[in-house]
Amino acid sequence: MENLTTQKPTRNIALELVRVTEGAAMAAARHFGRGSKIEADKAAVDAMRFLLNEIDLDGTIIIGEGEKDKAPMLYNGEKVGTGELPVLDMAVDPVEGTELVAKGMPNAIATIAAAPPGTMFNPGPMFYMSKIAVGYEARDVIDIYAPVKDNLNKIAHAKGMDIDELTVVILDRPRHKRLIHEVRDCGARIRLIPDGDVAGALMTAWPGTGIDVLMGVGGTPEAVLAACGLGAMRGTMQGILWPRNVEDRRLAKAAGIDLTRVLTLDDLVSSNDTFFVATGISDGTLLDGVNYSGDFVRTHSLVTRGLTHTVREIVSHHHLDTLQKISPIAY
Ligand code: FBP
Repeated sequence: MENLTTQKPTRNIALELVRVTEGAAMAAARHFGRGSKIEADKAAVDAMRFLLNEIDLDGTIIIGEGEKDKAPMLYNGEKVGTGELPVLDMAVDPVEGTELVAKGMPNAIATIAAAPPGTMFNPGPMFYMSKIAVGYEARDVIDIYAPVKDNLNKIAHAKGMDIDELTVVILDRPRHKRLIHEVRDCGARIRLIPDGDVAGALMTAWPGTGIDVLMGVGGTPEAVLAACGLGAMRGTMQGILWPRNVEDRRLAKAAGIDLTRVLTLDDLVSSNDTFFVATGISDGTLLDGVNYSGDFVRTHSLVTRGLTHTVREIVSHHHLDTLQKISPIAY
């Protein structure tokens, strides 16, 4: 841990990155409920890439649109920024919850994380991870290998709550049938979400969301993004890579990946010198979505810095006519 008492305030890259997620969110929001996740994603990717390249940093996308989508832009390994210092690894998700935007549903966000080179976990061929995430009060009591009941009892105790007052956020997937059953058996409450477990993880650490814990299997890239935000918010998470089938197991073995290893937050991002930003695309529990009112577009963002644990909420009012005259982005 750096000695904060002797440091002068240094550049907070997150305060610059928030302009990028705002732009991506506004571009994606034009496609809200229009039925095409591809169009929504493309608009956000274009905006994010354009804005990111205006920032003075020497960035490499470590977690991007990625191999999964064979994306032509913001792909893993792409260089972003002007090439000036600082040198950073970047994880980007221009639309976290593409289906949510296409269907006009809540909780879609545009998000970026940045960290020193080599400090972000490389998901390799493993797309899925079993996760548990909590906020500050419960950060020392979780154990992903423990039974659901033990975790929920300990989380409830750490938060001074009864187990039947806890709310567990879980992706609504057939693979979670047993988990859902176990949580219900304990008497805890469940918020099933159709998509978006980065927002789900962050809700556990953000006051007022009413969400106490995230459980279940979601994307590995999403876990790295969430870890950057959660660390800054003083929450934590654990994960175990989750092979879907024999082929995933084979790939893991070939890559020398230990499928039993518990990945802590420090494994997912091994530096606390992180920057994480998220802007709401659609209204959600964590963030308000992009909102149009007269000449203005309102955006709502979280801007965090791991080094200081400062979390800013930024509400911006963008003047559409002006932006449309000076920017190539279709806001
Ligand atoms: P996309 O925005 O890429 O569609 O991801 C949404 C998401 O719900 C993530 O939040 C989550 O981690 C992952 O998909 C879960 O994957 P799957 O939909 O295959 O269960």
